[in-house]
Amino acid sequence: MTELERTIEWHDGTVLMIDQRVLPLHYEIKAYTTYQGVAEAIHTMVIRGAPAIGAAAGFGMALAGLQSTAGTRSDLLHDLEMAAEVLRKSRPTAVNLFWAIDRMLKTSRRFETSGRFTVDDVREALIREAQRIADEDVEINKRMAEYGAALIKDGDTILTHCNTGALAVVDYGTALGVIRRAHEQGKRVKVFADETRPRLQGARLTAWELMRWGIDVTLIADNAAGHYMRKGMVNICFVGSDRTAANGDVANKIGTYKVAVLAKENGIPFYPVVPTSTIDLRLENGDLIPIEERDEREVTEIDGERIAPIGVKVGNPAFDVTPHKYVTGIVTENGIAYPPFEISLKRVVAGGA
Ligand code: MRU
Repeated sequence: MTELERTIEWHDGTVLMIDQRVLPLHYEIKAYTTYQGVAEAIHTMVIRGAPAIGAAAGFGMALAGLQSTAGTRSDLLHDLEMAAEVLRKSRPTAVNLFWAIDRMLKTSRRFETSGRFTVDDVREALIREAQRIADEDVEINKRMAEYGAALIKDGDTILTHCNTGALAVVDYGTALGVIRRAHEQGKRVKVFADETRPRLQGARLTAWELMRWGIDVTLIADNAAGHYMRKGMVNICFVGSDRTAANGDVANKIGTYKVAVLAKENGIPFYPVVPTSTIDLRLENGDLIPIEERDEREVTEIDGERIAPIGVKVGNPAFDVTPHKYVTGIVTENGIAYPPFEISLKRVVAGGA
């Protein structure tokens, strides 16, 4: 099967996505022509990773424009608000989802005041804006990669958690993009990839991507991270983020907190790699970040096979918050933010390094 060039693509009113639930054993492409389908794809994790979710929401809104039978711009706006409500409910933690939906609504509202434009003008503007969000994402990842790669020395071993590769974004990657860039620069790097229970994004996606890029990767159980750190076998940690608060607290895939605490205990620098669209300056600290609780079967079953006693109580938070005291610096497309984050994050969000 021909592979997509990107994780998500728009083809003449159809949104194509690589189905990340079946990788690496199967490469399948899903096609969506409705925003409801896109919302379901985000919820069921056909597509996942904060920036990829944002891009999907953008294309979902563009589909909503095409689906709407509205004959006036105000009716179209009403239909778009309804679609936004549905998309907003698909996943709660990655702020990129809300950021992209708001950006799309803003685009449609821009046409409200002038009588010159038709409903079709708005529909076309929505498609252009969604494509812009996707294209910008690739460019942003490459800029972050350049800043982050400068932190990596020849011969370093890097520990990472979850999947932050091309699959988690539109193309290239966030934390994995940093590692990819260092490799492209000719630095000899090795990677420990946490398997990342319960959805195993590390085992299924990160290991697959790094191997395809020719980067030396060792897959480890999440519980092995501390062992390798204590033995002096990890030089630096790079992870992603689904939402970063104004004080530098970082929400990321469950288990990231443990990595950060272990890194600090062992004197290892810990860097989240974060597009500014993931920074939520409205939230003072990480306790205000909504944490998604997912289906308990992700924990009680492996590949549909029950492994835990029937009736056992289960907790399945999909993300945790790493307090900023464990964060060495935050790599963004506008430079690296260092403590005090209250000041440096504002600066990078405003565009300054
Ligand atoms: O539940 P997921 O797979 O969507 O979680 C993904 C992560 O936690 C990533 O680390 C995060 O989105 C940042 S990566 C681009």
